[in-house]
This record gives sequence, C-alpha cells and structure tokens, in this order.
Amino acid sequence: MSVTVRVPAKVNLHLGVGGVRADGFHELVTVFQAVSLYDIVEATPAASLGLTLTGADTRGIPQGTDNLALRAAVQLAERLGVEPAVHLRIDKQIPVAGGMAGGSADAAAALVACARLWGADTDHPAIAEVAERLGSDVPFALSGGNALGTGRGERITPLAGHGRFHWVLAEAEQGLSTPLVFGEFDRRAARAGAPAADTGQHRTALLRSFADVLDSGEAARLAPLLGNDLQDAALALRPELDATLRLGRRAGALGALVSGSGPTCAFLTEGAASAADLSEFLLGSGCCRAVRTAHGPVPGATVIDPADAAGSLETAGAVRSPRIRKGAQ
Ligand code: C5P
Repeated sequence: MSVTVRVPAKVNLHLGVGGVRADGFHELVTVFQAVSLYDIVEATPAASLGLTLTGADTRGIPQGTDNLALRAAVQLAERLGVEPAVHLRIDKQIPVAGGMAGGSADAAAALVACARLWGADTDHPAIAEVAERLGSDVPFALSGGNALGTGRGERITPLAGHGRFHWVLAEAEQGLSTPLVFGEFDRRAARAGAPAADTGQHRTALLRSFADVLDSGEAARLAPLLGNDLQDAALALRPELDATLRLGRRAGALGALVSGSGPTCAFLTEGAASAADLSEFLLGSGCCRAVRTAHGPVPGATVIDPADAAGSLETAGAVRSPRIRKGAQ
C-alpha cells in the first residue's frame, strides 16, 4: 500500500545571481547536478495527514503543516481533488539547511509518492505545477541529472552529459538560512555599487562552456568552470568555511566551492579513490560535522522498491562524524 521514493541532493556546479525581481526573488542562472546523496520518502494511506522524520540529523525541520513535503501533499491533493489522507515518513541523509536542496528534494519526493498513491501518473501536469509553486529547487529535484536552471531557479532545461563526476561533501556543524545568504549578497552588491549581472548573457556562456565538459566526465575540465556568486556572502556569514575550502584544495581537490547558499562545501575529485582519500583526510582534520562521498549526475525523484531503500543510503557514503569515528577506534 505504501509508495517509497528516493530523491537526490543537488550541487550547483555554477550559480550566477542577477537582479532582484518584483516578487523579491533573484534572477538566477545555474547549472545543477544531482548527486548520489539521498533522502527516502515513504507515503502510506492514513486517516489524516501526518509526518515522521528519521535520519542522521533532523534538527530544525518543520514538523507541522509548514513542512514543505506536507505542503506538497496538501497542494497536490487539492489539485487532484482527493483528500490528503497520507502519512509521510522522511528518512533524511541530505544535510538540513545545507545548500543541497534537501527540503525541496523531500517535497519533490512527496509529490511523486502521493501521485502514485492517488492513482495519478508520475508525469501528471499537476506535479510540475505544484513543484514550481513550492520552491525554486523543487522542479530540479524531480528531474535530476544535469540541468540549466533559470528564472528563480525553477525553469529547468536538461543538459545531456554521460560523464560521471566524484564529489566529497563536507557538512558544517550548523545550517545556514538561504534568505540570510541572499540578503548578505544584496548588501555586498549594494556596497560595491556593481550593476546586477546580465543572466541572459551568462546563460549563453554557461551553455557553451558546459556542453561537452559534462559529457567528457573529465573532472580537470569541469574544475575551472565551477563557480558560485553566493560564495562570498556565505563566507562572510561563516568565515570558517574558507579554511575548509583551502584545506580541501591543498589536499588535492581539483575544485572546491560552497554548495548553493551553503554551508556544505563541495570538493570535485579526480575519481572515486581520490574522493575516498580526501573524505578521510577532511574527517580527520575535524573541520566539519560529517563528510560524505557522492557521484553525479543521478536521476531525480524515483519510485523504488522499499527493499532497495537501505542500499540507496549506503551508496550515499557513510555519515561519519569525527566524534563517532573516535568512539569506533
Ligand atoms: O524558492 P525557495 O523557497 O527555495 O527560496 C528560499 C528563499 O531564498 C527565498 O525566500 C528568497 O529569500 C531566497 N531566494 C531568492 N532568489 C531565488 C531563490 C531563492 O532570493 N532565486
């Protein structure tokens, strides 16, 4: 009776921020990549709407009707003309408020799971409509892979690319609020007196530069294209992230950047073995709460056999905090 969905986190390979729009959102042009760090969302028919959270760290996730996954279920039910009689169980591995779109991922997974539960096709147009309304990153969590995001991030153009890239993701002790980081970005831009970037021009340049690199799978060619306009704002709010980025670069990462609005730091490595080495090194340095390895691109929110859920979490790379590691030695 239940439906289980696996949904990936994202890294912004490039995040260009333009001007503030009339609705208060920033115009964005970004290249997303979905990576193999997953949340699992299980939807079960129930007498009324409900939520259970499990996983590595669920601190700070809203548990009431302001939870994005519950909102997704309610809005989809309204659109399909059914009762939102569902219990959602979310097993979280994606860092909370980590700049990896974990909340958006859960909302996307809830849409796919509830659609299946309520007899709608997983490509029913209501899913895309609700996703777009819910948040800037929700549509990408549905599609996954590599994609160009424009508008406020919600307009998705899939980017072909068969290359596989290997990442190390260093999770910070505490999450960072996305609006706070955008606010800091605005203050810095106002101080600098710089005009807002032209996202149209930027889009053309990104499409040209990323086209064959994503297909090549050559990390050394992807590294110089990585960039994040929000990075300086995130570093201003969390100066210690700068040391984490430097540490990773010195230890051999080909590229290092703050993921989205942060504070998770993403390190691009040559392959799976160098990712494992770097992950061990960063873990030992004590710079971060947990370190994981992942690869991308991977598909977006997908219905899976519940028996495969545990395997999905394993492929995400173990959650290992320095504290747990010491205890195990
Ligand atoms: O769309 P989402 O709910 O994820 O956005 C969270 C917050 O991030 C927004 O309320 C806004 O403050 C900021 N944001 C923005 N411009 C975007 C996306 C997000 O200013 N394109």
